[in-house]
Amino acid sequence: MQKRVDILFKKEYVKLHVNLIPQFLTEEAGMGIERVFVVGAGVMGAGIAQVCAQAGVPVVVSDVKQEILDRAMKSIAWSVEKLVGKGKLGEKLETIMARIQTVTDLALSARADLVLEAAFEKLDVKQEIFRKLDETCRPETLIASNTSAIPITELAAVTRRPERVLGLHFFNPVPMMQAVEVIKGAATTDETVSKGREFVLKIGKEPIMVNRDVAGFLINRINYPSTLEAMRMVEEGIGSVEDIDKGLRLASGRRMGIFETSDMVGLDVTYGALMAMYHETGDPRWFPPMILRRKVRAGHLGRKTGRGWYEYNEEGGRKEKRTS
Ligand SMILES: NC(=O)c1ccc[n+]([C@@H]2O[C@H](COP(=O)([O-])OP(=O)(O)OC[C@H]3O[C@@H](n4cnc5c(N)ncnc54)[C@H](O)[C@@H]3O)[C@@H](O)[C@H]2O)c1
Repeated sequence: MQKRVDILFKKEYVKLHVNLIPQFLTEEAGMGIERVFVVGAGVMGAGIAQVCAQAGVPVVVSDVKQEILDRAMKSIAWSVEKLVGKGKLGEKLETIMARIQTVTDLALSARADLVLEAAFEKLDVKQEIFRKLDETCRPETLIASNTSAIPITELAAVTRRPERVLGLHFFNPVPMMQAVEVIKGAATTDETVSKGREFVLKIGKEPIMVNRDVAGFLINRINYPSTLEAMRMVEEGIGSVEDIDKGLRLASGRRMGIFETSDMVGLDVTYGALMAMYHETGDPRWFPPMILRRKVRAGHLGRKTGRGWYEYNEEGGRKEKRTS
């Protein structure tokens, strides 16, 4: 069974046959993690689907609208094509894309061995998805969240399988970043953690084990204090966005400045993660500064809306003038 999808490449539409994946036609459980279902086809969900497909793991991606899924398929195809062109993948674009199927509901999660949630960084949105997944998925299916900072334990608590819920936290851009945090919630069993770790290795990534479900896990808990400090310094007029980024690139050997990274991640994602950390700890140091709150309210979310700490043109290139 196939359907055709038009993918825009180098300003030309190319027709791709997208398979209805045979592995998802059978109800039998896999021996290990052989089929993955991703919820949310934004920048992270698309990246996760891509790395699964590149590793030979069939994946179904869901989102609320077909347009979002079509956009995700185009961005995946564009990225895979680039990697194929550089000789980094041993397979053709069509072979890899044929392992990805898109859907606008959760029904096929019933056939998955692992479900990876990558929807908005909002507790209520994620809990609603976890409640639904708990109904649709087989009891033995693992359910993981890609959350940046929402406690895994709070997501697990709305299911009847908290021992099979874990965090699998990928980093942006997913095809390039090797680390994946494997997070143990309060009720997650060692067996679940170990299956999560094996899956990360299977798709060619490096597991970073997080033994306790603490706010921000390992990497964000280390990175966010400097992100917050940089935002507060701009707010206080101590330095400009450009100078802080330039200084970090030239003095600290970073490839991207804090604000460039923030625009790539999405200001709403950082805001949601900081609020989750603030609620979890009650520690005011995590409370998002006014400058971030204002931008999120105005819909200046970074690259995805064409404006954040910087402004971007239609092609995603940066405009000269910064906004603040
Ligand atoms: N952006 C990053 O750099 C980054 C890095 C690591 C982790 N994360 C985490 O990954 C998750 C996703 O982030 P993102 O940047 O991809 O966000 P995004 O806004 O780009 O994408 C989220 C997607 O989820 C979809 N969605 C929302 N509710 C849904 C539902 N009920 N069912 C199906 N789909 C739904 C949206 O339509 C959207 O396409 C967040 O939890 C975020 O904290 C993001």
